[in-house]
Amino acid sequence: MRIDILTLFPEMFSEVLSSSILGRAQANNLLTIHAWNIRDFAFDKHRTVDDIPYGGGAGMVLKPDVVVACIEHVKAINSGKVIYMTPQGSVFDQTKAQSLAQEANLIFLCGHYEGIDHRIREGWVDEEISIGDYVLTGGELPAMVVIDAIARLIPGVLGDQASAREDSFANGLLEYPHYTRPSQFRGRMVPEVLLSGNHELIRKWRLKEALRMTLVRRPDLLKKRQLNDEERQLLQQVLADDCNERR
Ligand code: ADE
Repeated sequence: MRIDILTLFPEMFSEVLSSSILGRAQANNLLTIHAWNIRDFAFDKHRTVDDIPYGGGAGMVLKPDVVVACIEHVKAINSGKVIYMTPQGSVFDQTKAQSLAQEANLIFLCGHYEGIDHRIREGWVDEEISIGDYVLTGGELPAMVVIDAIARLIPGVLGDQASAREDSFANGLLEYPHYTRPSQFRGRMVPEVLLSGNHELIRKWRLKEALRMTLVRRPDLLKKRQLNDEERQLLQQVLADDCNERR
């Protein structure tokens, strides 16, 4: 996948995107990321990128001529859709990450100040994404969040593809708890079934604990999801465990 980022702060991306798993994905040519400085596409000697809003009011607005020059330059290299990061976009989730991970090319446009001239959104933006109902100072951190969530779903990026499959949300449930050695730590034991070597029992235990975790922490996710027979049975057991504990 090739990702191009249009931003006034390209330096914000270098450390984050070149570290750890995303760094390795780029070294292995699974992912190419390039951050462009919108200011390089300004026309005047002061390299102006923004101007006061028509109609008055606080803040500055990114200029359409400069931003569109940048978009058109990048579009000649990257044919992907242009995604504008904004709190007004549709809220990002794992399903959206999975669908964007299928794309070969993507372009992220990061706004700053009061935003960008609305004509850019009408004419040159294909999609608008928000990372949640709060307002950040710019689209750079949101773009990093979205890129990280997408990149780890590209085949080969995670060492062990199973870990992406079993993720929280990958199957609509939160993940089961994880343990490693030692089996006893400060009086706390690892659940015995995990030491049993019985793969079927372990699979069932993990599914049950994923259901328990989801029921306790995100019951809204359970409501949205169809349960199969096994899951329904295990959920009944979770509820029965809960009743027994209360006695
Ligand atoms: N820019 C500022 N806040 C944002 C948010 N919550 N999501 C996406 N882009 C943003």
